[in-house]
Amino acid sequence: MQRLMQIYLVGGAVRDEMLGLAVKDRDWVVVGASADELLALGYRPVGRDFPVFIRPDTGEEYALARTERKSGHGYAGFQFHASPDVTLEDDLARRDLTINAMARSAQGELIDPYGGQRDIAARKLRHVSDAFSEDPLRVLRVARFAARFAPLGFDVADETLELMRQISQSGELEHLTTERVWQEFERALATPQPLVFLEVLKQAEALTRLLPEFAQLDLGLTAPALNRLKALDTSPESCFALLCELTLATGTDPRAQQIIQMAERLKAPNRFRDLAVQFCNWHETLYRLEQVDAAKRLEMILSLRLLKKNSHLSALLHLTQARHPDFDLQLSIRLQDLLLRLERISTQDLMRAGFSGKALGQAIEAEQLKYCSIF
Ligand code: CTP
Repeated sequence: MQRLMQIYLVGGAVRDEMLGLAVKDRDWVVVGASADELLALGYRPVGRDFPVFIRPDTGEEYALARTERKSGHGYAGFQFHASPDVTLEDDLARRDLTINAMARSAQGELIDPYGGQRDIAARKLRHVSDAFSEDPLRVLRVARFAARFAPLGFDVADETLELMRQISQSGELEHLTTERVWQEFERALATPQPLVFLEVLKQAEALTRLLPEFAQLDLGLTAPALNRLKALDTSPESCFALLCELTLATGTDPRAQQIIQMAERLKAPNRFRDLAVQFCNWHETLYRLEQVDAAKRLEMILSLRLLKKNSHLSALLHLTQARHPDFDLQLSIRLQDLLLRLERISTQDLMRAGFSGKALGQAIEAEQLKYCSIF
């Protein structure tokens, strides 16, 4: 029997197009072909054991239609079966959510065997089949999709939440690596409503298992501050800093130290840790910049390295505004003026005036303090 190779657009691209959103990456599924046929056509294999290829001219991913079976724990324990007789419907059946399990043919026809279109209309994140449970990463993925699509009115179907709870209770989440958990968390921090991510994980009984650091966060109290932040700054780093500060706000221990430990446990990149530590240490001073004395102002400026080009000044101002809704925006303008004046202090001029060595350092500091006192 002659086989016909067919290529379908699948996954997020089909979903986003139906939601009227911009399509970022396009993933394709190839049915009726073998790996050798794709290699002969010039596609480059992505890995040795994975039936996924890159088309050299577009850089897009083409996967052979496959079925998957769980053969171990966690995200890595899978056995793939890819062969020319795996159908498109078989391939779609192994996917996580109905809205992610649709395909579009080259002729533009929608293939939707599991009710993706229905769930797009109903605004439901619903699993395709019980095979959902084979991949514990999906608990995080669903929470992330809930956060991403919350503004469109999506929520998680009751039966999917129940399945997520079962996965949590089974102990499978403990097999996810810290890196994978961080990766999903970081992506969730960049969504419009990161608290929905934490809330869904809580409902799925996964929050204390995956991100116990944030289990004590009062989601109701955090929401207004986070909404204020998102209107100013959508970066995941800023969002992380605010969540860290709010979750530690009631504690008594040195908070910077706790953040450093948290970031290390989560394997968060240093830029996340550093902004969170800076914000925790200095937001009260930034907020009260008018009341504090010149020495404190200067200490803050030097400690936050605000005279350096790559400082986090704008993120810190956004965070302070979000944390203290009555923060006076005039203060940020005056702070930037002060920074300009401090930058103009000339070491050369002071050297020409006869200062050197330790005395030079003291003269620079005296100048800096003078400017800081007329804030
Ligand atoms: N998929 C899955 N289970 C996973 C990961 C991926 O079922 N654990 C499937 C889904 O069908 C998903 C597709 O693989 O739509 C592509 O995955 P990915 O690129 O991670 O997500 P997208 O849905 O494309 O969404 P995004 O816009 O975030 O890239």
